[in-house]
Amino acid sequence: MVLVSGSGTNLQALLDATADPTYGAQVVAVGADRDGIEGLARAERVGVPTFVRRVKDFTTREAWDEALAESVAAYEPDVVVLAGFMKLVGAEFLARFDGRVVNTHPALSPSFPGMHGPADALAYGVKVTGCTLFVVDAGVDTGAILAQRVVEVLPGDDVETLHERIKVAERAMLVDTVGRMARTGWSVEGRRTRFGDDA
Ligand code: GRF
Repeated sequence: MVLVSGSGTNLQALLDATADPTYGAQVVAVGADRDGIEGLARAERVGVPTFVRRVKDFTTREAWDEALAESVAAYEPDVVVLAGFMKLVGAEFLARFDGRVVNTHPALSPSFPGMHGPADALAYGVKVTGCTLFVVDAGVDTGAILAQRVVEVLPGDDVETLHERIKVAERAMLVDTVGRMARTGWSVEGRRTRFGDDA
């Protein structure tokens, strides 16, 4: 199960990977917090079911969170991948899918959490940044780390060129790690994560 808010290139990478039966995972559905986005179109084009739950259609944030959790639960996913999903899921959602919600962030955690990872990295002047896949907890980009990839910051970079290069690394990281989770299993102990095929 994948949740998206935008262009969905990370979702597309997963959809492409799942075309190979040895990959070990399938995208059972795609959910979004808004209509008319390319992420939903990508799912529709390959016949993956979609749903939309918009915050503004609910009286409270908690009601939205519960409805989102219900919609996700209907597909009985093993892993819920937030791939450019620009909303924080709430306590109810996390309790329901405890330890099975993962998010990709375009920075090397714990640096530069929040909505502007590439811009913040550029402004700080770091020479390397990257991306992080983590198990979602109650914080913002604070969960236990499953995978990270390093991306060099180049002298001529602006936010867009840097973010695009990070996204190339991000897609590969996501595909490699979600497949590995599906094929070998994984565990989380405190901040440490392990995969079934770890030495
Ligand atoms: C990714 O860099 C994600 O980490 C960030 O937004 C981007 C989403 O890209 N939060 P896409 O929708 O998968 O193309």
